[in-house]
Amino acid sequence: MEHTRIKELLKSEEFGKEIIVKGWVRTFRNNQFIAINDGSSINNIQAVVDFENTPEDILKRITTGAAVRVKGNLVESQGKGQRVEVKAIEVSIIGDSDPEKYPLQPKKHSLEFLREIAHLRVRTGTFNAIFKVRNALSFAIHKFFQERDFVYFHSPIITGSDAEGAGEMFRVTTLDPINPPLTDDGKVDFKEDFFGKSTNLTVSGQLEGELAALAFGNIYTFGPTFRAENSNTTRHLAEFWMIEPEMAFYELEDNMDLAEGLLKYVIKYALDTCPEEIEFLKNRLLEEEKSKPQAERSELNLVDKLNFVLENNFERLTYTEAIDILKASKPNQKKQFKYLIEGWGADLQSEHERYLVEKHFKKPVILTDYPREIKSFYMKQNEVDAQGRHTVRAMDILFPGIGEMVGGSQREENLEKLLARMAEVGIPEEEMDWFLDTRRFGSVPHSGFGVGFERLVLFTTGMTNIRDVIPFPRTPKNAEF
Ligand code: 4AD
Ligand code: MG
Repeated sequence: MEHTRIKELLKSEEFGKEIIVKGWVRTFRNNQFIAINDGSSINNIQAVVDFENTPEDILKRITTGAAVRVKGNLVESQGKGQRVEVKAIEVSIIGDSDPEKYPLQPKKHSLEFLREIAHLRVRTGTFNAIFKVRNALSFAIHKFFQERDFVYFHSPIITGSDAEGAGEMFRVTTLDPINPPLTDDGKVDFKEDFFGKSTNLTVSGQLEGELAALAFGNIYTFGPTFRAENSNTTRHLAEFWMIEPEMAFYELEDNMDLAEGLLKYVIKYALDTCPEEIEFLKNRLLEEEKSKPQAERSELNLVDKLNFVLENNFERLTYTEAIDILKASKPNQKKQFKYLIEGWGADLQSEHERYLVEKHFKKPVILTDYPREIKSFYMKQNEVDAQGRHTVRAMDILFPGIGEMVGGSQREENLEKLLARMAEVGIPEEEMDWFLDTRRFGSVPHSGFGVGFERLVLFTTGMTNIRDVIPFPRTPKNAEF
């Protein structure tokens, strides 16, 4: 390869060396200074053009977005803001870019605008930093599990089951949607479908993960999952990535320890391996916060916030204890949470989760032992308590600014109890026969959890909208690219 990556040049000491740079023009000032970026760093390298000896038609074609090749000498920079620059000997154009039509101008664009041109936003510094951190976190997840001898297990994307039993599935079908074949009693005849049955995109790899855990001991999945929940929020995607470890012989305590260890490990890895990107994102956030009133600005900057998570134990308490805290609280001085009129048994709303993590504990919180009625069928049931409350060994990890980052549980390993629960919530036994074999043959206590990968990236980058931490967000009414 004839060229050197800009990241290497920016830290090089080899002044005077002849080098070649290839990249895209960010700006071209005074017919002389080209800021070039090749994606290897958020930072650009400056090439100083000898404009008197550069043909006019070349100078004209050095425009924002154009791809260029610059041959020159690496020199110490005379200007402020950079240590090194390239004294150009020869500039050539690899690919033109019409400055009148190129959507990215050499100025700061809003995130909203950049979302509309998601196919080009990867060329900006902000998205370079975000997706580098995303990349580091992905790698760290594998590193964490591989170091602990977990098997990376591939659960299917197309399945016949709804792991969460919440009915939020995207159907997969080869049938004609306008005129599907019908059975004698007028229903869609899925026997005619590609798989001979009704199928959907997976909402979670957990059930297949459980099969694998009872064979390998410890496994994890890490792949895309799909949910047709119509929530247009800054925390939900229709296509998101999930990390789902599943461990045989793990009880809830072990599950919590593993989840807390994983989150700390991967956040630390991002801090250690992406210092420039995180510094850039920290400054971006500080800049953004300047427009907010003092009271709404966060007390900690991004780096402090990440370090705080690393240095403190997550607070662990039960759902019932959390309800008691919420009942005793006055979130806005006067009123209590209105939902608490409903009392024990209701699911926590995001305002309650935020209160617990941001106002009360001011750190990540692990809530356990939720009411059985608001959780999935597969969770291990506790004994009914003295007040007649029936809970399950669930655990949700809540993060400041994010809400639910992790959902998991110890699993119900007892076949009779699981069957009874399935019957109560209307899950047909025949459809889950394969899954039930885990409980029929050598059933053991086991546990697992799912980390919403984009929520992890949100937290680590300090971004606030989940659409900005996945390259091609899929949300209601939006699947453009
Ligand atoms: O709490 P959830 O629904 O749990 C499960 O799917 C379990 N099967 C996991 C397990 O035990 N193996 O989802 C897990 C996490 C949530 O805590 C959240 O972080 C994320 O996945 N998540 C979403 N992220 C983005 N967009 C959505 N629509 C999400 N739904 C869940
Ligand atoms: Mg959940």
